[in-house]
Amino acid sequence: MKVFKTKKELNLYFKEFRSKNTKIGFVPTMGALHKGHLSLLEKSSKKNDITVASIFVNPTQFNKKEDLENYPRTLENDLNLLKNIACDVVFIPSVEEIYTTTISSGQFDFDGLENEMEGKYRKGHFNGVGTVVKKLFEIVLPTYAYFGEKDFQQLQIIRKLVKKTTLDVTIVCCDTYRENNGLAMSSRNARLTSQEKEAAAIIYQTLSGVKDKLGKLPLDAIHKWALEQFENQPLFELEYFTIADEETLKNATNVSPKKTYRAFIAVYAREVRLIDTISLNS
Ligand code: PAJ
Repeated sequence: MKVFKTKKELNLYFKEFRSKNTKIGFVPTMGALHKGHLSLLEKSSKKNDITVASIFVNPTQFNKKEDLENYPRTLENDLNLLKNIACDVVFIPSVEEIYTTTISSGQFDFDGLENEMEGKYRKGHFNGVGTVVKKLFEIVLPTYAYFGEKDFQQLQIIRKLVKKTTLDVTIVCCDTYRENNGLAMSSRNARLTSQEKEAAAIIYQTLSGVKDKLGKLPLDAIHKWALEQFENQPLFELEYFTIADEETLKNATNVSPKKTYRAFIAVYAREVRLIDTISLNS
């Protein structure tokens, strides 16, 4: 496994492959790797000649300074995990390598996708994500790039980014990897107490309950039920619960058989923010 810190080193390594139509699979991450990340890399290695992971805690996508500072950084452990799977190249650039002199986001128009859910509660977040993912795509030039369904809004935004630019990459959606109790794996879970981790089963239980109730109860009754699940839960504070159209990510007011829908949740366990989503159609 090759580890590169600069664009120059990466380009040099890729020089001989690019001309040979080598399929490059890319998994961008912010590190603190868990089995969810590894499942994306495994999916990539099955389809591509070379699989590249990047580890870069992107400052421009954090809207709170404390969240950026507290984001877990476990590089040594990450590299050990990657060595044991089919990952060929790891790119671990510095902030200067990515942003050169100014650490700031570009402005993107994602046709309104950026204004829903995460966009409402994390101002500027998707400009930061768009900025870094575009830069990383331009450096790695992947054939396929892998993103988790857990961050479904991010996935749709990246698809939109690719559609609106000349980037020649196919985006692949990967299933959410969960703990046995249903909690979606996340780098942020490392900041939960064991009691919180156990109780966090309520997130997926609520999403599954919503899926079960769709078509049997009116949408507003389902919404009310979902909120009730968190009312008597001392460990979690619900930030939002939404049933939204998968294409527009807008809140659904009625359900059309021609469209597909998803339920989305964001909660806080103290200052740790967790998100999850479930498809209501499949
Ligand atoms: P990060 O949170 O490290 O996630 C990297 C990728 O792993 C994302 O595509 C995310 O959706 C996926 N992922 C996270 N948890 C997962 C799980 N439990 N199962 C399956 N996939 C999971 O998302 C980011 O980093 C950043 O925003 C990034 C795209 C790297 C840009 O900075």
